Amino acid sequence: MIVRELINNYQSGYSLEQPFYTSNEVFDAEWDCIFKKHWLFAGNMAQIPKPGDYFLYALQNDTVIIIRGNNDEVYAHYNTCTHRGSAICLQEKGNAAKLICPYHQWVFDKDGTLLNARMMPDDFCKEQYNLRSVHAKVVGGLIFISLAEEVPDFSSIETSLKPFLLPFEIATAKVACKKNYKLKANWKLVGENFRECYHCGGAHPEYCSAVIGANLRENADILTSDKQKEWISKGLTTELVEVTTGTTTYAIRYPLRPGFESYSLDGKKVSLPMGLHKDHDAGVVGLVNYPNFWMDAVSDYVWTMKVTPVDAATTDVEFCWLVDTNAVEGKDYDLKHLTDFWEITGEQDGKLCENNFKGIQSNAYKPGPYAPVEDQVINFVDWCVEQLKKGME
Ligand code: FES
Ligand SMILES: [Fe+2]
Repeated sequence: MIVRELINNYQSGYSLEQPFYTSNEVFDAEWDCIFKKHWLFAGNMAQIPKPGDYFLYALQNDTVIIIRGNNDEVYAHYNTCTHRGSAICLQEKGNAAKLICPYHQWVFDKDGTLLNARMMPDDFCKEQYNLRSVHAKVVGGLIFISLAEEVPDFSSIETSLKPFLLPFEIATAKVACKKNYKLKANWKLVGENFRECYHCGGAHPEYCSAVIGANLRENADILTSDKQKEWISKGLTTELVEVTTGTTTYAIRYPLRPGFESYSLDGKKVSLPMGLHKDHDAGVVGLVNYPNFWMDAVSDYVWTMKVTPVDAATTDVEFCWLVDTNAVEGKDYDLKHLTDFWEITGEQDGKLCENNFKGIQSNAYKPGPYAPVEDQVINFVDWCVEQLKKGME
């Protein structure tokens, strides 16, 4: 059994053996032990501002309908009709007062209740044919779902993320742009890449000019501690959250380079201060939730990354940019000015991940040692292997 053998041979501190990145058997095991067990970032409330607004999230053979209810609540259902299984929602996103199956028009409420199954016999028990639901939770305007049968703990995610998210008022924000990329790389390489800045000096000139210390050659300690005092006085959360046993969340606030007001190529602000922010001086909020959520936010915009494995060799990556609810395109922000920074940096990272995957497929590839500055990569990879181990037991 290849997966068990790989887990037993795993040496923490070294990159994974080749089949961890390339084999379908490992991929299937990861799907069961990681993606079907944990909370997955699905999107945000600003994508579904009105009751009945919905979007779909495709996860292997399952598609999940994420729909807003009448009272700001969110429901998630498998997109499969309880009559004969037809997909119910056929568009990527839309609005539906009721979910009506296109095949024989069974009608479901937003919460999944079967309301009407026409021409069924009088003794037909509707209650048994509600939509099959998926767990859904919202924290600070971000929507997480879980395909697990037993709902995994959400409280540590909520406690860690909420104070960082609240000032952005994401639930009422405006989605300025969304972009999808299909990377030819195993999903864990995307995760690994976004857990270290060892590569930043060489790969990201734009990122390094905006973030002091990203090149690992400058010391940002004094600036960071000065800024932290300012942020605390403004009521902004600064406390570092690290992933520990049993948790999945990482959160940090760090400073932009002096003179930079935003994550932008020219260092200038890109939009209105978002939500409760009063100025352009909140630094950068960096959030992660294993296995699929990354977010970097500055005072005037939020950028999220959703990582969805397609197969061992393909990963779907979705970027979303959010701005303040009152920000008007062309007046308060320019779309290119807003998106350039992460488009350029994200594409640089995408290439790095694809190159990494290409090299790993070589017969000559062997696990190599992570550098001390890659400690968070070790944490991520350890976590993945640990989940496999637990799931296979
Ligand atoms: S399959 Fe949906 S109503 Fe028949
Ligand atoms: Fe990077």
